[in-house]
Amino acid sequence: MLLLVLGTAAGGGIPQWNCACPGCSGARAHPCRRRRHASLAVRAGEGRWYVVNATPDLGDQIEAHPGLHPGPGPRQTPLAGVVLTDAELDHTLGIPRLREADCLQVLATAPVRQALLDRLHLGDVLTPYTSVTWRELPRRGAEPLDAETAGGLRITGIPVSGKRPRYAADAPDDDAWVTALRLYDPATGGTALYAPALAAWPDHFQRAAEEADCVIVDGTFWDDEEPRRTGISSRTATGMGHLPIEGPGGTAERLARLSARCLYTHLNNTNPLVDPAAPQHKRLARLGLEVAHDGMVIEL
Ligand code: MLT
Ligand code: MN
Ligand code: ZN
Repeated sequence: MLLLVLGTAAGGGIPQWNCACPGCSGARAHPCRRRRHASLAVRAGEGRWYVVNATPDLGDQIEAHPGLHPGPGPRQTPLAGVVLTDAELDHTLGIPRLREADCLQVLATAPVRQALLDRLHLGDVLTPYTSVTWRELPRRGAEPLDAETAGGLRITGIPVSGKRPRYAADAPDDDAWVTALRLYDPATGGTALYAPALAAWPDHFQRAAEEADCVIVDGTFWDDEEPRRTGISSRTATGMGHLPIEGPGGTAERLARLSARCLYTHLNNTNPLVDPAAPQHKRLARLGLEVAHDGMVIEL
């Protein structure tokens, strides 16, 4: 299994266009600190790639990785589809960027698909440009990620929470608003678990994490008070639907007990980890945990 980390920032990116916080200013002064919106490219088979979440940076993310470039035909692309973990804008605004495609396959759970069709009107908007095929993200058991690749990667969606995007706050309850993805390669036996949005840590997610070789999770906020302390919100991290890294009930102590390689992604620009000199990096290193970076390649 080959995974390319296309981006590791939460909504807004780092730097965020209207933000002069230390994290964003630091990234303007030091371009190596820039992070694009969180996304992963997954190789389903030879020349067949899927992106997990379609971010506003998708065009640049494709250009940054030669394996995702088109060719040899003039409009031949290795991008076979998009898999969505949720309906948040930072994970879906890239879908209209793909309108030049002949056809587009989108894997999502039912509530996520419904939000994109009924609230963002992506079906109506995209129909004159391209043909979108919606596929249900499998929840009970693994299915082939790519129908055209025999013996290729298998995917399972693991519901993690009912957190809805703000634009769909009054939409019906459903436990599949936010999903983690389990990717399994039958050829190598490798398993990855990708959960860029974690409002809760249900038992079935814990079991999936125990079985995985690599776990990549929500690292939006370092601690629960960070959004209030930095003045970006009146809510805590948990209240905003992101389990914090540090503290009781935080993700670090849970990850540290796993045997998997564990990495954080979806960092908010207020997270001290966006500064490579922050002491919090030493704390993670002592626990054996990593922070993912843009351009990272993971082979399993
Ligand atoms: C989130 O991760 O909580 C959302 O993406 C927030 C947002 O961008 O509005
Ligand atoms: Mn987000
Ligand atoms: Zn900022």
